Order: sequence, then C-alpha cells, then structure tokens
Amino acid sequence: MTHKFIRPDIVEMEPYVPIVPFEVLSARLGRAPEEIVKLDANENPYGPSPKALEALRNGRFFHIYPDPESNELRDALSSYVNMPKERLLAGMGADELIDLVLRVVLSPGDVVIDCPPSFGMYPFSTAVNSGQYVQVWRNEDFSLDVPAIEQAVANHPTAKVLFLCSPNNPDGSTISDTNLRRLLDLPVLVVLDEAYVDFAVGLTRGERGERRENEEETSAFSAVKNSSRIHWTLEYDNLAVLRTFSKLAGLAGLRVGYGAFPEWLLPHLWKIKQPYNINVAASLAALASLEDQQWLHEKVQLLVAERERLFAKLGTISYLNPFPSRSNFILCRVIGRDAQVLKLDLEKEGILVRYFNKAGVDNCIRISAGRPEETDKLLATLQKL
Ligand SMILES: Cc1ncc(COP(=O)(O)O)c(C=O)c1O
Repeated sequence: MTHKFIRPDIVEMEPYVPIVPFEVLSARLGRAPEEIVKLDANENPYGPSPKALEALRNGRFFHIYPDPESNELRDALSSYVNMPKERLLAGMGADELIDLVLRVVLSPGDVVIDCPPSFGMYPFSTAVNSGQYVQVWRNEDFSLDVPAIEQAVANHPTAKVLFLCSPNNPDGSTISDTNLRRLLDLPVLVVLDEAYVDFAVGLTRGERGERRENEEETSAFSAVKNSSRIHWTLEYDNLAVLRTFSKLAGLAGLRVGYGAFPEWLLPHLWKIKQPYNINVAASLAALASLEDQQWLHEKVQLLVAERERLFAKLGTISYLNPFPSRSNFILCRVIGRDAQVLKLDLEKEGILVRYFNKAGVDNCIRISAGRPEETDKLLATLQKL
C-alpha cells in the first residue's frame, strides 16, 4: 500500500545528510555545548548582535501571525542593499528561496545545471521538485568550466536554471565578473548564491586569476557594498541573487534570508510562498541586526582576519593542503592519512569539522573560521594528532 502512494522519484531520492544536532553531539561527546569548538557548519561564532538579542527579549507580538509580505524587513533591506523593495523577497533562509524558485520554474524533467562541488541544497531541491540534475564539474582549482557550462545548456533544451555560488561552498573561490557576464548570456535563469559574500575580502597568498577581482577592497564594509552582484539583477532579467542572515548576522537558528529577483518571476514566487514564512522572532532579529551594522562589520573583519591566520597556519601542518578561500571557511585536502579518521579524532577532542569524500573533494575536511581561541585549540590538536 504505502509505496504505491509515494511519488516514484521521491522513493528513489537520496536524503540530504544534515549535520548532527548540537545537543545530540554535546550529549554524545559528554561535553557542554560551550566547550565544543564548532567549526563544521560555517556559522558565525559571535552569534547575533546585542541589538538583535534585545529585540528578541522585548518582542511583544509572538502570539500574532507575522506580516506575509515582511514589509518592515523588506523596507530595511531595501535601504541596506540599495535596491527597490519590490524586487526583494524574504525567505526562511536562502534554503527556502532555492526551493521556491525551483517550484515556480520547473516542470517535471526540466534541467537544472549545477557546478559541483558546491552546496548540497541545489541537487536536493532539484530532486524534490522533480527536476533533472545536470552536473558540470569545476576545474581542479575549483574555478568554473565556463565552456562546459555553455555546452551543457546547448545540449539540454529544457535547461532552465543554473546555480552559481560565490564564494563557493565548500572551497571559498569566487566567480569573476567576466565569467559571470558570459554565463548570464545563456538562456537560463542564473541563481547566484551569495550566502558568504560578506566575507569576500582580503587576499589569500597564492590566489590566482579569478580571485583577484576585488583587490582594491580593504575593509569588510566596502565588501558588503561592492563585491555583491545584487544590483546586477536590475541589469539582467535572468539573474536572481540570494543572501542570508545566517552567516553575516549569526541568525542561522532563526532561518531568515532574502533575495533579489527578476520582475517576471516575483508575482509567481509571491503566489506560491507560504504566507507566514518569516516568523516574528526572525523578523525582529533581522531588523535589529540591520540597525547594528557597525557590530556586524567588526565581526566580519575579525572572521576574515581569522581566516587568513588559519590559512597560514594550516599550511604548516604537514598532512594538510589548504585551498585559498574568500569565505568564512577553509577547505583542506588531507594528505597521506584518512580524512574521516582525522575528523573523528578531532571530534573526540570536542572539535567539529566537516568531512567530505566525494568527487572533487575526496579525502577533504572543511574548517570554519572561528574565534581566535578556537583556532588555537584546533591548531594545537592538529599538531598533536
Ligand atoms: C552556499 C550556501 N547557500 C545557502 C545556505 C543556507 O543559507 P540559509 O541558512 O539562509 O538557509 C548555505 C548554508 O550553509 C550555504 O552554504
């Protein structure tokens, strides 16, 4: 009985493997949450801004359904990103917006092009929405294989969406203006995921070609204003840009993100989204965060500085080969030993990192930039192991 009722593609679908919940890990490791060095999910270790916490403490209308149009938040976002409010839509994290776009545009079997290794939600949401997932592998240095993407679009007449992520998760590389413009000439909707764009500043030694585009930027603040392509959505009607409060504002647990979308897409996104997707607490915290930009930017600067220090120090560990990153994490290939064993050994010491063993990121770990004392504990443990 049961199976017959389930969509066959859902029966076949691989589940997304989320990270183990913090409380579960804490119990499993026998350590209090505060003792755990959590560098596995690119969260912001500084947490929400004091103003966001205060807004949550003072919230009075948690018993009332939220504004389905998130007007206050979109007004504030409009000033923050300097974009017309009408072009902005808020989501329950960027994750919801990825799903919403695919729900609107895909008919069963339509093609979604992804450039792995990249963020796991692109294949996941493609599968949930009965899309056909086509992969165009990145080059060895994680740069995009632009001619191969063009060929994939040419080969698939039902190609509708191309996901691009800059800085890319899991390696932290960025897409150059030239490549992005070239890809925007393709007859597909380009969804540019800028979840980590606030960290896309500062040069890492050994960076090549693509990653030099923002050399003139000196502060995290200028990065927020300059390195995002959110304004390009006014120039290109096949571009959507996604952003999130999870990384910049330390609100991953409250689930709030936003995006700028083409005019033709917006009415349909509005039509199908859950009316109350942005809850009252998330909205209050996001609004208050936008009023505390100086605090946010100080934390971005700390994390960018920590990323640079981490990169330099990881390069001194004989069995690690770190990749240069413009994000708040660093991917490392593990040389001459098993990355999974390393991950588990770190876990026993209360240090969590993300382990990968799939094409493009075989025998790798990804380490988020944390507070200086967290980096110190990680490095001391890596040296000991
Ligand atoms: C590239 C990328 N996009 C989006 C997200 C999810 O963002 P949100 O927490 O806003 O759903 C993540 C989270 O790790 C990510 O790595």
